[in-house]
Amino acid sequence: MPAYIVLFGPPGAGKGTQAQAISQKLSLPHISSGDIFRENLKSHTELGKLAETYMSKGNLVPDDVTIAMIRERLTRPDCKNGALLDGFPRTVAQADALAAMLAEFQGGVNAVPFINVPEAVLVERLTGRWTCRAQGHIFHEKNNPPRIAGHCDFDGSELYQRDDDKVETVTNRIRVYFKQSGPLIEYYRQRGVLVEVDGARPIEQVTEDLLAALPTE
Ligand code: AP5
Ligand code: MG
Repeated sequence: MPAYIVLFGPPGAGKGTQAQAISQKLSLPHISSGDIFRENLKSHTELGKLAETYMSKGNLVPDDVTIAMIRERLTRPDCKNGALLDGFPRTVAQADALAAMLAEFQGGVNAVPFINVPEAVLVERLTGRWTCRAQGHIFHEKNNPPRIAGHCDFDGSELYQRDDDKVETVTNRIRVYFKQSGPLIEYYRQRGVLVEVDGARPIEQVTEDLLAALPTE
């Protein structure tokens, strides 16, 4: 049976950072809805243009568009054994849609690690983040600096600051998270798959805690 893991947490919790650390260990592809939107934005697709109108303000892209995009991604061959989802689902409607589509693929959500980080830490993490242009590798100017400033350790490409990491947009993203995504904590707790991990610890320790919290076969 395929395994589906949903990394959940507020903007800046470390979902992308942890997904990069554990995706290979779990042999599951890392699927980030935000990354897919950003790739579409870069290649000027219609989806990218539409998504940008929401992302630039820190609001959610409409459910129907996001659900269709993830469904298409999950049907690709690399997801035959499951996936490590990051940033999806983010609303109850998306979670219901995910459950329905995974049932079609003879699976379900196996675990939802909730990376919990106090709100006060999030802004500092997001405004200090630097992202790699080529493949989205993630750094932080203080917490996780690249070896050579401005260049990715993994592929040497240029590092940039995301447009939605400006303080005003970050504040709205956090507000949107509490209002629209917050209810998913209870949603997944009731279904017995939520595992809470303290995300305010150093990156490597969070990785260890996450791996220990995930169900093993
Ligand atoms: P998305 O790209 O998913 O952004 P997000 O959820 O706001 O999360 P982030 O990527 O900002 O944070 P993260 O948890 O991945 O943290 P990271 O590891 O980078 O979404 C962007 C936009 O796309 C949304 O606003 C929306 O418009 C749209 N969208 C996406 N999905 C959608 C959906 N399902 N429905 C509708 N719209 C959707 O870490 C952050 C920083 O902290 C880094 O600098 C990192 O180095 C540092 N750091 C990480 N862990 C630690 C640690 N343990 N200690 C110290 N520093 C750390
Ligand atoms: Mg991310």
